[in-house]
Amino acid sequence: MYKIASIGGDGIGPEIIDEGKKVLDAAGERFSFDIDWTAFDIGADRYLATGDLLTEEDIAELKKFKAIYFGAIGDPRIPPGVLEKGILLAIRFSFDQYVNLRPIKLLEGVETPLAGKTAADIDFVVVRENTEDFYVGIGSRFKKHQKTDLSIARELYNVKFGLDIESDAEEVAYQIGVITREGARRVITYAFDRAQERRKKLTSVDKANVLSDIYGLWRDVFTKTAAGYPGVATEFAFVDAVTMWFVKNPEAFDVVVTPNMFGDIITDLGAMIQGGMGLAPGGNINPKGTSMFEPIHGSAPKYKGMGVANPIATIWAGSMLLDHIGERKAARAVVTAIEKSIRDGVVTKDMGGAASTAKAGTYIAECVRKGK
Ligand code: IPM
Ligand code: MG
Repeated sequence: MYKIASIGGDGIGPEIIDEGKKVLDAAGERFSFDIDWTAFDIGADRYLATGDLLTEEDIAELKKFKAIYFGAIGDPRIPPGVLEKGILLAIRFSFDQYVNLRPIKLLEGVETPLAGKTAADIDFVVVRENTEDFYVGIGSRFKKHQKTDLSIARELYNVKFGLDIESDAEEVAYQIGVITREGARRVITYAFDRAQERRKKLTSVDKANVLSDIYGLWRDVFTKTAAGYPGVATEFAFVDAVTMWFVKNPEAFDVVVTPNMFGDIITDLGAMIQGGMGLAPGGNINPKGTSMFEPIHGSAPKYKGMGVANPIATIWAGSMLLDHIGERKAARAVVTAIEKSIRDGVVTKDMGGAASTAKAGTYIAECVRKGK
């Protein structure tokens, strides 16, 4: 029996999470385990009604779970950034989910926009650092002659910033990226461990040629960590160049590790080469705490309630969740069933099919149950 939290969220989130639960429950039936779901009402509607984003009580409750199954957040009634920072990033930070694991794998039968590339060429994983870098939320904006005396502290390995800025410019804005040796070490170590289980190649993506302090430290940690993994081949790549190589030579990658913001950017590119946002799952992992699994796409509010959303990214994220809690066989069976649904053409409109969200989900659940 596993106790798992779920957050449907906004837009298409609740529909795709329903399909994901259906498939995970089917996996439980086949592999003899039960999932006890606890649904949390967190998202735009609650925010509009109560003003609450992710509350202290939410955090205290969610902390009791090893895994959270998350749909999507984002709503046109609320200015951009509020829900993203107040809920999604708040979950990643509150539970110190320092690994954002994003497989870039072209499933059998899915079309990639990369001419001449097949499923054999596109199969790597991006390990995105998930708690530091330009996502730490340290920044400010101020107008001419407005003197700021900022004492900014963020509980991040006890790093505290005190800034005193005076300027004649009409307006100034800044945002600070932070990397700590400990923060880099834990995620880079995680990536080396993954590489060791796979094809034993790890690429570090950064921009150390320009942002040389922050990514200089990153490289330093990467090089030191590499010494403990003599069997893993390593390379450095600049983020601009890597966008080119993802398109030109995706087969050259096995595991890619990268700071938070570059990871955000290159995994949208990764999603496209694996067939689109409807097919891209992610796991926000704290190996010793509460992890969260989600499709990497957003809430697509204009499709809310229409039954057209592709549930595959969410179902695949569910497979990652099963893998994380130790149900390896069930996790593999879910991906096999997704592939079968694609082969059989029981897919949503974005993939050229005619199935509704629920029909696609039900079909995958049936395939899992029957072991197909
Ligand atoms: C993602 C998203 C988020 C991010 C946003 C919604 C805050 O783009 O999960 O990739 O930037 O991490
Ligand atoms: Mg993103």
